[in-house]
Amino acid sequence: MSNVKRLRNAMSTKGVDAILVTDMTNIRWLSGFTGSSAVCLVTAKDAIFITDSRYTIQAGQQVSEMDVKSFGSPKTLDEFITDEAKACGVSELHFESSVTFSTYEARKNAMPDITWKPAPELIRELRMIKTPDEITKIKDACKLADALMEHIQRMLKIGVSEYDICLDIEFFYRRNGAQLAFDPIVVSGPNSARPHGVPGERKLQAGDFLTIDCGANLNGYNSDITRSFVVGEPTPRHEEVYNQVLKAEVECCKALQVGKTGVEIDALARQILDEKDLAQYFGHGLGHGLGLNVHDPGGLSPRSKETMAPGMVFTVEPGVYIEGFGGVRIEDDVLVTENGPEILTHFPKELTVVG
Ligand code: GLY
Ligand code: MN
Repeated sequence: MSNVKRLRNAMSTKGVDAILVTDMTNIRWLSGFTGSSAVCLVTAKDAIFITDSRYTIQAGQQVSEMDVKSFGSPKTLDEFITDEAKACGVSELHFESSVTFSTYEARKNAMPDITWKPAPELIRELRMIKTPDEITKIKDACKLADALMEHIQRMLKIGVSEYDICLDIEFFYRRNGAQLAFDPIVVSGPNSARPHGVPGERKLQAGDFLTIDCGANLNGYNSDITRSFVVGEPTPRHEEVYNQVLKAEVECCKALQVGKTGVEIDALARQILDEKDLAQYFGHGLGHGLGLNVHDPGGLSPRSKETMAPGMVFTVEPGVYIEGFGGVRIEDDVLVTENGPEILTHFPKELTVVG
């Protein structure tokens, strides 16, 4: 079933007659368009893809399930939407939650004949269940993340700077036709206690924890992988912290079973870390949805509303961050299937000494 049909079904279930899709990631999901400017007007019978003259040719090639229209100066986007909505007989139009208050006010004033209503969550829910094509693309991005880790492990030596490791990560992904999913996190020693620390000139030293978190964006889909290493000889404290994070990660990956909730799986991570009194050092959620965005809809956290269903993809990334000592995070990407969880990133995760 096409994503336009899936959206129409959800609209019908939730009593939404017409929606204006404006979030560019949702537009890509709905239409296949990879440009940076468009809106989609969808009703039970019409699906109109509106872009401007910069993207007319591209939209014609990429968008097949919708009626592609483009506008140019002196007509404005709001005038064009007004005309199209009128032609479709739309008088009540739902807008997405990402619309800012100022845009809402401006559209309300520009289109006095249309009643604007906030849309219920529609595309967010649909995007959580990945199509087979999306799963293939996520798997390809995960394979590249595994290859990156194998490549980068060779340069993890005492004296190499966080910044140099970071540069090599970017070169590797770009050389392989991908982009960085996000600015890589490469943090060593005391910096590794910062879950989202920024790589700097610090050079690897014996006794460091080193954490590398660096996903690939390949063909529009993301992977997200984190591994922590010990530089030089590990102390008993390194081993205790690392192995407890590993235990939490392994058990939580296994727990992504159909029917389990994101709250339950997050709680499992905290329960395992607490066996060694380490849950106090785990401040973020256990994981997030993964797809067109690195942080795609859905999550595993105390606030999660999700129940595991086939086709969902989540990161599982418990961490322990101890100020003044260092931190460990281990992250894999996991697909929920009828037959249990399928781990998509495979780089080894037993405690590894580098340097
Ligand atoms: N890998 C970065 C994050 O999940 O926020
Ligand atoms: Mn992540």
